[in-house]
Amino acid sequence: MRVVVVGAGAAGLAIGWRLAQKGVRVTVIDRAQPGRGATWAAAGMIAAAAENGEAPSPETELGREARALWPAFAQEIEEISGMTLRYVQDAALLVATTQDQSAQFEQRARASNELVSLSPDEARRMEPLLGAPILAALLATKEARVDNRALGEALALCLRKAGGRIVPNEPVMHIETEGPRGLQVSTPFGLYEADAVVLAAGAWSGQIPRIPAHALPPVLPYKGEMISLLPPQGVLLPQRVVWGNDVYLVPRAGRLLIGATLTQSGFDTRTTAEALDWLSARAVALMPSLRDWRIEEHWSGLRPGSPDGLPMLGPTGVPGLYLASGQHRNGILFAPSVAEILSRSVLERSDGPKAFDPRRFGTALAPGPGRR
Ligand code: GLY
Repeated sequence: MRVVVVGAGAAGLAIGWRLAQKGVRVTVIDRAQPGRGATWAAAGMIAAAAENGEAPSPETELGREARALWPAFAQEIEEISGMTLRYVQDAALLVATTQDQSAQFEQRARASNELVSLSPDEARRMEPLLGAPILAALLATKEARVDNRALGEALALCLRKAGGRIVPNEPVMHIETEGPRGLQVSTPFGLYEADAVVLAAGAWSGQIPRIPAHALPPVLPYKGEMISLLPPQGVLLPQRVVWGNDVYLVPRAGRLLIGATLTQSGFDTRTTAEALDWLSARAVALMPSLRDWRIEEHWSGLRPGSPDGLPMLGPTGVPGLYLASGQHRNGILFAPSVAEILSRSVLERSDGPKAFDPRRFGTALAPGPGRR
């Protein structure tokens, strides 16, 4: 079996790797370099509780399932790639700075067995840099984090070691779905034949030129900007991920990542002075001494959203064409589950979970008579 995966982010690489492990001939094509899109721009939080809350939903369930897969997933990637992913299971601290948030925290702690209420003093003892007037705090005890930039590199190594091929710097121009020779993926530089194609191109998954209109997924780009800060000599980083004041702070290898904005401005990935100011001001209001830290980097990425906010995972209405997109804020968290769902779906030619069926948007992903 030959499979072409379009998109070498965490999802595409992990799907390709799982398929290659099963003996499939896998080619992963990317418009740029592997792991350099949203995977690179992310913060690497495995934040099932902090990001998705407690209300039962297909998304929270997928998040919890994926989080449970992460320890073995990370270990396997580290063993095969020889790289460290800095994967750590570590509670995240959520702080409330308004009365509304404080009331929500009480409800959330009651509804969840993984959130522990803390007093403001307890929160400050855990993270002494916190200076904002905190009204309440929660400890999300089952969260984890991973170095997402290392993840992209390591997954590319795993894929290659399993016999998969990565073709970088080739934007996909066309996916021929109705020819006599299976599916054909064209780039400006080559033609790739496949028995199945997995579209895992993140926010660009709906942008393949000349793909049949009925097969174009309704993926919406959500821009996120982040910054990183370096501490003054001798100053320690926060020990854990801290969420509060509309931002999150992630300690990573000697620097503090601060994210993220969430805006819709098409495919414009330019960083903005407004975002830099907003992120800095929000973080400094939470931890005042951060005003003395040096801004090291400012970057952006595009999250792939969907019209109903849920991922799109599984077969489309076009035989042989599969989709793995719409992970929105959860691309890193969901990666091991997305790899399982899509590799099974492709190998068994079966549907994925109903709630994430790409065909749920009707005409957008179902073939229509005579429509191209
Ligand atoms: N999961 C973090 C973000 O999307 O900003």
